[in-house]
Amino acid sequence: MHGHSGIDRVLLTSDQILSRVGAMAADIVHDYEGEDGLIIVPILTGAMVFTCDLIRRMPVPMKIGLLTVSSYPGTATTSQGVKFVEDQIEKLKERVVGRPVLLVDDILDSGNTLRAVTAELKELGAKSVKTCVLLRKENRPEAADVVGDYVGFDIPDAFVVGYGLDYNDMYRNLPDIVVLKDETFS
Ligand code: IMP
Ligand code: MG
Repeated sequence: MHGHSGIDRVLLTSDQILSRVGAMAADIVHDYEGEDGLIIVPILTGAMVFTCDLIRRMPVPMKIGLLTVSSYPGTATTSQGVKFVEDQIEKLKERVVGRPVLLVDDILDSGNTLRAVTAELKELGAKSVKTCVLLRKENRPEAADVVGDYVGFDIPDAFVVGYGLDYNDMYRNLPDIVVLKDETFS
């Protein structure tokens, strides 16, 4: 399938994803109507593909502020703590100070990433911070305080890849979101 090995099954097809992304974009545009100076902050690298599709469906003035965060280095499939790239923070501060910020990520799992990045953006002086995730894992009691303002799909608690999401930095270019076979994690 797709020329990639190790895939167990497709969870969300490209068509399902894009149709939902269109609806999310419309909701966001509606909610930010009348707000000037929207800044979109995608959390790299995972949110790259989702953000490209989302912003092309949002016909409003905006700027982008890049932020790289890693919490799953290499083959880890549980969060190892949130790390920022320090050099990006000064630049991001100039961009977000006094502005409404929409944080975009691929998936909300433990909530550690969105919790830490939301706090950092408020610290940098953002006027407001909302969060937008394509996927949210079900049954995550530790993420109860981090729900996501815009959520694409609630999915079962499995490790998924594709559409920007990776395992060991692979599979990001799959157009669908898929579940990997157990033997892929070794
Ligand atoms: P959290 O900090 O535990 O909420 O995890 C969020 C980050 O972990 C996301 O930005 C993803 O990059 C990564 N992540 C969480 N679950 C998965 C998964 O199932 N597949 C790939 N990456 C994941
Ligand atoms: Mg990520």
